[in-house]
Amino acid sequence: MKLNATRCDSLPILNNTALLNQRTLAQHIARKITSAGGWLSFARYMELALYTPGVGYYTGGSIKFGHSPKDGSDFITAPELSPLFAQAFAKPIAEILNATSTHHVVELGAGTGKFAAGLLRALDTLGVRCLRYTIIELSGELRARQHKYIAKAAQQFSSCVEWVDALPNRVDGVIIGNEVLDAMPVRLFARQDGLWHERGVTVADTCHFTFAHRPLDTIDMPPELAYVHGHHNYVTETHEAASQFVYTVCAALSCGAALFVDYGFPAAEYYHPQRTEGTLMCHYRHRTHGNPFLYLGLQDITAHVQFSAIEQAAHDAGANLLGYTSQSNFLMNAGITDLLAQLDPADPARFLPEANAIHKILSEAEMGELFKVIAFCRGFDAELGAFEVGDRSHML
Ligand SMILES: C[S@@+](CC[C@H](N)C(=O)[O-])C[C@H]1O[C@@H](n2cnc3c(N)ncnc32)[C@H](O)[C@@H]1O
Repeated sequence: MKLNATRCDSLPILNNTALLNQRTLAQHIARKITSAGGWLSFARYMELALYTPGVGYYTGGSIKFGHSPKDGSDFITAPELSPLFAQAFAKPIAEILNATSTHHVVELGAGTGKFAAGLLRALDTLGVRCLRYTIIELSGELRARQHKYIAKAAQQFSSCVEWVDALPNRVDGVIIGNEVLDAMPVRLFARQDGLWHERGVTVADTCHFTFAHRPLDTIDMPPELAYVHGHHNYVTETHEAASQFVYTVCAALSCGAALFVDYGFPAAEYYHPQRTEGTLMCHYRHRTHGNPFLYLGLQDITAHVQFSAIEQAAHDAGANLLGYTSQSNFLMNAGITDLLAQLDPADPARFLPEANAIHKILSEAEMGELFKVIAFCRGFDAELGAFEVGDRSHML
């Protein structure tokens, strides 16, 4: 995510390889739009832009994760910011594995592999045996990066790590996804002059796209739009893909828990009358803007997560809510500041970067409040210490 990102008025110039990939993907999407009769839902466009094999943003070769535009990256996530993030998650994950006598962790969309390597090492330090670590990764390029990183940083555990394309039918253990739900396609809706439309995508001219609206009658109306009071012009999203995904994850859970970390809000806050422009956002070289037609296949397209819908999907799949709170509350309860305190302040070269990263992860003004942790359980019932102070389940 999306730290250090600044709104941009001048975006970087593309090189020839980037231009070629962009053109290939644009031609592919243009053909899809034409064969669909000239209009595609935004969700389908977003899926194609992010996940078309070889040229989509997540399935192509761009660097994505990193600290600055200079390293060719677009954004940074918490596991990349500090190893203490994965270490702090080890405590609640160990609690669940112990309570369920299970030894399996499944990570959804594992980025560069830093979270996996850090978690495996930290579980071992806590004396908890993870016998199987399954990574579900859609991108072959990221899989290769994860493999290389884990082999180097957690060599002694790499034999228990496996990569699969899809969730196993049954999981006994823990499933975790950091910033995975925000990367799932969303549908867009616009209310104009009091009437709702679905905002889709059409071809403007060869390989250039533009928004096109289709009127919604009340039968097509997603129930979430009922939250949006008033008649003023309004743009927002619904999250069918993320809900379906969480349903599948929770349905696969036999005995254990699923944890999701992401930026977002419950429905009442998400569909607040003043949030008139929705949350769709694009990230390229640590700059943010709102145009999903720029930098096709080269920029991330993301939307905030609507946690009430996520809770409903998990409930429909038969899972129980374990807790919902801010990232800051969750990590403080899990002891992240104690982990920081174990570092020696007399060694500023090591201590200061970590302290700075933890500040970003916990600060209300940065990731601490916008990011939430939500967790569900099935087949066992227990309370998780990481939700002890500041649980906000009542807000969903
Ligand atoms: C913003 S990245 C986060 C990566 C990593 N978890 C981190 O925190 O650095 C989003 C990830 O979600 C993955 N993803 C999206 N849809 C997915 C799905 N259906 N199953 C598994 N991973 C998915 C993407 O491929 C990408 O690796």
